[in-house]
Amino acid sequence: MLSKPTTLSAGPIGIFDSGYGGLTVLRQIRQLMPQYDYLYLGDNARAPYGTRSFEVVYEFTLQAVRRLFDMGCPLVVLACNTASAKALRTIQQRDLPQIDASRRVLGVIRPTAECVGDISKTRHIGIFATPGTIRSQTYDIEIGKLHPDITVTGQSCPMWVPLIENGEFNSDGADFFVQKYIDQLLSRDADIDTIILGCTHYPLLYDKIRRHTPKHIQLIPQGEYVARSLADYFRRHPEMEGRITQNGGIRFLTTEQPSQFNDNAAMFLGESINAEHAVL
Ligand code: DGL
Repeated sequence: MLSKPTTLSAGPIGIFDSGYGGLTVLRQIRQLMPQYDYLYLGDNARAPYGTRSFEVVYEFTLQAVRRLFDMGCPLVVLACNTASAKALRTIQQRDLPQIDASRRVLGVIRPTAECVGDISKTRHIGIFATPGTIRSQTYDIEIGKLHPDITVTGQSCPMWVPLIENGEFNSDGADFFVQKYIDQLLSRDADIDTIILGCTHYPLLYDKIRRHTPKHIQLIPQGEYVARSLADYFRRHPEMEGRITQNGGIRFLTTEQPSQFNDNAAMFLGESINAEHAVL
């Protein structure tokens, strides 16, 4: 039997994503709460996750969570919709009690689902996300629980993450795939007035998505809502907030070559960084 830790450890907030996308969430969280320490882990060597099976996404995500726990994080945010959709519940319910019941793992889908109730007027919303997130129907389920009057239409966008991970999100070629998925979504429900960007990579394509989307439709990137929801979580859970160290520090880990990560991550964050290599 595993013994319970006698003293509760303190450390940084762990932020996990399959690659670069979680940096868009980290940026917003750090803007709202600059006092905390952060440890970012990107599994760039194995990204994208969006086309992988449930079992593989779960296995990879659990490895990442264990690593962030080993490095002292009392709390890990899965800043990845695909991991939140496919692995979060199992990790929370099955693994966490075995590993360390005093730690927490949070996702990004619930905070995003919460915000749409106040935004949509037509009560018809669209979701752009990876094939894995759409197939899991997690958004439909979460929004259905919170706002049963809203009709949700999911559109999987399998080409968007590869365009971003390969640094092609500003290229002319990207316009074709942006237009394509927007047209597909709107042909399935013309009453949509709000679209959630349900993948943390997509803010990088925001300008193109905005340009190709009719003006009356609101686009919702998640970072801001996830950040506000985390701040609210800390207000409700002072025992966890007290375990987060507060030196305003940040470290980056990547399963890819750090030099490559540094160049691309700087574009997401707007500052230069110095990542370390991690093997999961
Ligand atoms: N950024 C991730 C998400 O929010 C995953 C992208 C991927 O690895 O496919 O879904």
